[in-house]
This record gives sequence, structure tokens and C-alpha cells, in this order.
Amino acid sequence: MPQSIAAPAAGPLVDTFGRVHSDLRISVTDRCNIRCLYCMPEEGAEFTPVARLLSFPQILRFVEAALPLGLRKIRLTGGEPLLRPGLPELIGKLTEPGAIGDVALTTNAVLLAKQARSLYDAGLRRLNIHLDTLDRERFRAITRRDELARVLQGIDTALELGFRTIKLNAVAVKGLTEPDVVPLVRFGRQHGIEVRFIEFMPLDSQDIWSLDRVLTADEMIRMLEAEFGELTPVPDADPRAPATEYQFADGHRVGFIASVSRPFCLNCNRLRLTADGKLRYCLFAREETDISGLLRDDASNAELQAVIRDTVWRKWIGHEINQAGFEAPQRPMYAIGG
Ligand code: 5AD
Ligand code: SF4
Repeated sequence: MPQSIAAPAAGPLVDTFGRVHSDLRISVTDRCNIRCLYCMPEEGAEFTPVARLLSFPQILRFVEAALPLGLRKIRLTGGEPLLRPGLPELIGKLTEPGAIGDVALTTNAVLLAKQARSLYDAGLRRLNIHLDTLDRERFRAITRRDELARVLQGIDTALELGFRTIKLNAVAVKGLTEPDVVPLVRFGRQHGIEVRFIEFMPLDSQDIWSLDRVLTADEMIRMLEAEFGELTPVPDADPRAPATEYQFADGHRVGFIASVSRPFCLNCNRLRLTADGKLRYCLFAREETDISGLLRDDASNAELQAVIRDTVWRKWIGHEINQAGFEAPQRPMYAIGG
């Protein structure tokens, strides 16, 4: 959406709707070691050649330029970020004093048991673990890999190490994941872990999405209340966080990322840097800004900042999943980064 006036040259990183951006998601690889059916094709996923991935020094250059614009939070994602060799090194640099305080990682946890210690030692304290089911057969059906045991080991190891927050993310697909809603929350309650259900979004590479395959937050709330008693909205929750949080009478929390049934675009403060160095203002954006070329050409902070400001300024009001004429982005989720 071209704007008639230019982005402000100073002040917070704001778009034309007044949304201030402070949250950056960085994808460190588009590869994955499982094949969740709502994200990747079973065979033939296409990946960026390793030589075209942003290097760690390039990622750090970008973060250095973005920091003075008011960046507060970084989430590392993929694909599966633990497939990127040397990730603790990057985390170590990002969590150094004076760099960004708040660094989180989203992982499918297949490799977590092996790597949790070095991630923790590097300074990582926040983990989001993607897990849709606790049932081995269903895990295999959804991910086309038999890796549940390693994921559960990864969660155990992370719990033992004492990460500050561990959350579980489960994608909710109607006709598929209903049997997992209650068991996942029971598991969360046992381990003091908040489970967050993400409504199925049209980001799959094979067009299996349709509105009637979205298991909605309201439907899941009813299932959970029938099992565990009343859920009430968490008071004073951060309106800019994508998850709407609820709690049971005993205080245990459950979150819903209800992108489809309750879009939260008007509160969005997020930007995304893909593994091949493109900056996106929305998961669903149909345009992106090339950053890798600028980094290769040793662009100055001022040049990078101008491009970041301009990208945010171009941000649209929000996705239109629920409207006729909606077009899914050209890249599937694994190539964008959650
Ligand atoms: N809809 C909703 N969430 C998805 N994810 C991947 N594909 C989809 C989809 N089609 C989520 C997974 C992953 C995170 C990065 O994005 O939970 O952990
Ligand atoms: Fe891999 Fe995440 Fe996509 Fe699943 S959702 S295939 S874990 S990138």
C-alpha cells in the first residue's frame, strides 16, 4: 500500500495506523526435521541454499541498526531453529548486556534434549515448544515423523534446567486435533506449563486450509471448561500480545492465538526477518523488503533504519482471512518464520 507521505525519520517505529513496532521475529533457517501437515508438504519442500541464509554477523548487524528504533523483543524461529549450527553463539551475542534483553526461541523440541543446556548457558530463558499431541500415533500422523519421545525428553530437560518460561504451542485444526485439547492442557497443568492453541491459518503449502477446518478458541474453551471448570479472561493482559489468556480457578493459564476468529491485527507490533534476509510487516504480507542485499553492501545504520521505517510505514491494516478475495502469501509458514 504506497503511502503519500514518507515514514517519520525519528521517534518510535510507527505505521500509518499508529501501531508502534517493538517485536522482531528472526527466522534462522527454513529447514525442518518434521513435516507438520499444516505447514510443510510431505515431500519436496524447497529450502534456501545455505549460502543464501543471513549469516550471524549479518543478523547481528540488522539487530544493532534496529535497536535504537525501539526494538524490545526478539524471537528466534525457523523452520526449526535448532537445525542451524551454532545457534547458542547467536543467542549469546543477542543476550549480552546492552543488547536486547528479551530473547525467546520457538522450537519443535526434537533436538532440545541435546541442546537445551548450551542454549541456557548462552543466556536463553524463554522457550515456546511446538507440540500438537501427546499421542505417538497422532504425532506421527500430523508430523509424518516418529519423534514424540525425543520431544518429550526435550521438554523434560528444559524443565530441569529451569527456563523462566516454557510454553507449549499447539495448532488447532478442526476434524484433527480435538482429541488433543484436553490432554495437552492436563499435561500443562501437571508441569506448570501454559498451553497456547493457535487457530489454523491459511499458511500451508498445499491448500488444505478452509474456514471450516479452523477449530476456534470458543470451541476449545467449551471443551476445556467441561473438563476443568470455568475459564476466565486474565485481567490486565498485555493487549499487544497475540495470545488471549484465560485462567482456571486455581490460576493455571491457557492461551489462544485466535488469528481467525478474533483477529488481533490492530494491536500488532511485530516485524519478521526471513532466513534469506527479507523483512515482512505481516505473516500474510504480499510484499517484502530485501535486507540481505543491503547487508552485503555494508549499508550504514542510517540506511538500514530508513528501510526498516519505510517497511513498517507500508504495513497494511491487517490480514483478511475471513473475507472473500483473501490471498494466501506466496511463502508457506516454514519459509516465513512463526
Ligand atoms: N496455522 C497456524 N499456525 C501454524 N504454525 C505453522 N503453520 C501454521 C498454520 N498453518 C505455527 C506452529 C509453529 C509456529 C511457528 O507457527 O505452531 O510452531
Ligand atoms: Fe516444522 Fe514448525 Fe512447520 Fe512444524 S510448523 S513443519 S515444526 S516449521
